[in-house]
This record gives sequence, C-alpha cells and structure tokens, in this order.
Amino acid sequence: MIQPKFKGERVLLALGALVTLTLSFANGFATLPTDVAKPQHCLLERIYKMVGYNCANLNLKEIPQSLKSNLQILDLSFNRIRDLNKQSFTRYTDVKYLYLFENMIQNIEEDTFSELTSLEALDLSSNALKSIPIELFSLPLLRNLYVAHNVLHDLEQDCTQLDKPIKAPIQILSLADCWLTRLPNFGILPDLWQLNISSNPLTELDIDQFAPMCNLRSLDLNNTQIPICACQTITADLIARRAKILNNHPHCTPLFATEQSICAQDTSPAPPSTDFQQCMEIRNTRKLDTEAKSAWFKISLGVLTCIVLFSIVLYYFHKRNAKSMKDNSNKHVKNPVPINRVMVPSGEELPIVENGNRTKLILDSD
Ligand SMILES: *[C@@H]1O[C@H](CO)[C@@H](O)[C@H](O)[C@H]1NC(C)=O
Ligand SMILES: *[C@@H]1O[C@H](CO)[C@@H](O)[C@H](O)[C@H]1NC(C)=O
Repeated sequence: MIQPKFKGERVLLALGALVTLTLSFANGFATLPTDVAKPQHCLLERIYKMVGYNCANLNLKEIPQSLKSNLQILDLSFNRIRDLNKQSFTRYTDVKYLYLFENMIQNIEEDTFSELTSLEALDLSSNALKSIPIELFSLPLLRNLYVAHNVLHDLEQDCTQLDKPIKAPIQILSLADCWLTRLPNFGILPDLWQLNISSNPLTELDIDQFAPMCNLRSLDLNNTQIPICACQTITADLIARRAKILNNHPHCTPLFATEQSICAQDTSPAPPSTDFQQCMEIRNTRKLDTEAKSAWFKISLGVLTCIVLFSIVLYYFHKRNAKSMKDNSNKHVKNPVPINRVMVPSGEELPIVENGNRTKLILDSD
C-alpha cells in the first residue's frame, strides 16, 4: 500500500524538477542546473590542513556567526554585505585568509579588524569603500592587501594619521582602479615587493615616492596619466633597482634617443633619499639579525654534536669496562680458587686438608 504512494511521489518530484528545468531553459536562464544544486549554507573545506569555509555567492547580508570559531580561511566573496562592525569577526580571531571581494561594503566600523592578529591576507576588492581601515596597517602578520576597484577618495587624508613606520609587513598591495590622483604616503615599507596602482587617474607621481619601498620588484602602472618625463625617470630608476615595470604608456621606456632627450634635463640621478636609506637599514638590520641567529644556531648545533659524541664515547668506554669486569668475575666463577683452609667450630686447629678429603680425614681421625 505504501510502496506505490512513495513511488508516485518520487515520480511527481522528478517531473516537477523536469518541468522547472524545461521552463527555465525556455525562459533563457543561464544559471540553471548549477543553481538548483547550489548550497544554501557555508561549506566546510580543509585546505592545506587548515579549517576553511566557502561562503561565496550565498546572498549573505551579514557575516555568519555559527561557523567553527577556529577557522583560518573565510571566503565571503560575491555576497551582499554592506556594513562591517566590531562584532563581525570577534568569533574568528584565528582567521588568516579573509576574502570579502565583490560585496557592497561601504561602512567599516573602527577596530573591526583590530583583533585579527593572525590575518595574513585580506581581499576587499570591488566594494564601495572610501578608504582603507587604518587599523589594518597595525596588524602584525598582514602581508597581502587587495583593495582594488573601490573609490578611495579619503585614503590620502587617512594616511596622514598613520603611525609610521607601519607595523604590518605588507608585501603585496593592490590599489588598482581606486580613483587615486596621487599615491598616498604609507611611510617606509621595507617588505613591499609588489605594488599595483594601475588604472588610476594619477596625474603626478615622483620617483621620491618610491624611496620608502626599497624592496620593490614589481610595479603595475598600466593606464595611468603620469606625465611622460616623470614616467621615464621612474621607469629608469626602478629598472636600475631591478624592479619590473608594467606600463602601456608608449614613451615611458624610451626606445629612441629623441624620446629620451625630451626629458634629458630631468634624468640626472637624484641622491639617495633618507627614506630609501632608512628602508635599507631596516632590511640590513634584519639580515644581520637572521645571520646572527643562524650563526648562533650553528654554534649551538656544534656544541650539541660535541656533547652527543662525547656521551657516545663515554658510554662505549663504560660498556667496555663493565664487560671486562664481568669477564674477570666470570673467570672467578669458572676456575674457583680451591679452599685450602677450613675452620672447624670446635676451636681445635685441624691440619690443612685437600678439598673434598676433609670429611674423610676427620672421620678417619675420629
Ligand atoms: C593589477 O590590478 C589589475 C586590476 O585588478 C589586474 O588586472 C592586474 O593584473 C594587476 N596587475 C598585476 C601585475 O597583478
Ligand atoms: C595594460 O593594459 C593594456 C590595455 O590597456 C593591456 O592590453 C595590457 O595587457 C595591460 N598590461 C598588463 C601587464 O596588465
């Protein structure tokens, strides 16, 4: 009785799904079969032994608060989050990789990120931000910061309030397409090796602004409006510093002597600025530190090896001694020294007798 009803239900369900599918195809929806199977909640994923959650594309308006609090990766990209506040991430202070790109984030309350001291990479690209939360520059492990495709009109002003040098060891910074007319001053950035300021209406840029970035290896200047001579100077100087410049401006890398001569008076090498020297000093001190550390490590390793070797030698000798002592005592057991004298309790001095014959002799004498 139950069986047919059950079957009928299944058939109905399947039919329903088919009808929906057909209808949607007829209507021209592109996202259909995947949309039907799309998860409605965050998926727990383990990546490189880290606990991660994939919450991308779930129409979220807020940060979910029911995930495991020891998560290290949190992907909240492609949602509809507008505001972040101090409570948004208080549960998730272990997070290392946080993806918030393609949302509608406008307002970030002060100190929203302050407690995220494990954070190494943050992507806030493609939102509606006017600035970068200042506390990010104080996070002790933050290496990669992506803020591309926002309208950062307030960034330059906010950067004047930064505690310089900043604490965050920023290595990669993307400010592409952020409506910047000038490059803000972040102070000395000794770790920065990749800077992306492409697609900004930069009308002025000076080689001195790259002095605090003494480790810069890659600069994307594509689609900027830097005057040609400034562009030539920057390109020449940074190439001399072994950086790779991406630029689609046709005259920035002079191909012909005539192109270079236009700006000839500007290209006299500038004396190294104090920012550059300070940046290099930080790098050199660190290098010395690591060298000193590795020297100490080698010395300790040497001492430890000596101790171990010495102990092995000691142990070996100890073993050998013990063995020869044992051998000696074994000899005693194997060839026992014959008992020559036997004391008899009577107090009478008995004659020295041969071992084994004593009883007989005593008996004889009795
Ligand atoms: C710079 O940013 C733009 C826009 O996000 C991107 O297309 C480009 O690939 C980036 N450049 C580099 C060198 O990563
Ligand atoms: C620079 O932009 C041009 C288009 O404006 C593009 O063709 C080129 O691939 C870009 N180069 C890089 C390195 O992003």
